[in-house]
Amino acid sequence: MKKVNLGRAFIAVAATGLLAAGMALPSCKKSSSSSPAMTLYDSLGGTTMVADPAAPGTMIEKGRLGLRSVVDSTIFVIAADTAINEYFTVLLAEVTSGNTTGFNALSKNLTDFFCVATGAKNFTYGGKSMTAAHDPAQNSRMNGKANAADFDAFVADLVKGAQKNGLSTQLIGQVGALVGTLKTQVVQR
Ligand code: HEM
Repeated sequence: MKKVNLGRAFIAVAATGLLAAGMALPSCKKSSSSSPAMTLYDSLGGTTMVADPAAPGTMIEKGRLGLRSVVDSTIFVIAADTAINEYFTVLLAEVTSGNTTGFNALSKNLTDFFCVATGAKNFTYGGKSMTAAHDPAQNSRMNGKANAADFDAFVADLVKGAQKNGLSTQLIGQVGALVGTLKTQVVQR
């Protein structure tokens, strides 16, 4: 499996709150310039540990839980979206027959992908590169090459998945900007 280069996809969000605090307390020697930039992952809850509702008794980073929730909701939105669900025929056939192996693998890989892309430090993405994942010749689970309209439909479904989980308009805009950087790799016709 190829490792994806997420360098360009990484979004460092300006720590406006910290900057404001720095300006309000000019005597504070530790200036905001020495603080690491706040990432989108931090904005989503970051590394704060919370109970994992999917695995009672275990904990999960709040940022990861938020992204996983968005990912899982989005997969369901896509499954019902006749504009693009044809690309997911392998996955949908599996789930319809009660086999959730592929769903679980996709959920994990998409969650890892978004964790890394939004700035998480404690996870790695082990799936295919964005180009390979969306090339039917390299991924038999991708039923055809996507065009620009398909991409826009996917992003609209992602926004719906994010809204279902209460992400703010501002955070949704940042996730949208992030996925927009991947369009040239995903759109292959
Ligand atoms: C920026 C937008 C997108 C991102 C970040 C993204 C990300 C991913 C990732 C991480 C995987 C898993 C790869 C692996 O397991 O190795 C995947 C698989 C897939 N993607 Fe995308 N994708 C995007 C857009 C699209 C679009 C527009 C389509 C089609 C309309 C699409 C269709 C698929 C399909 C069919 C699979 C295989 C699903 C399965 O495992 O059954 N993706 N994508």
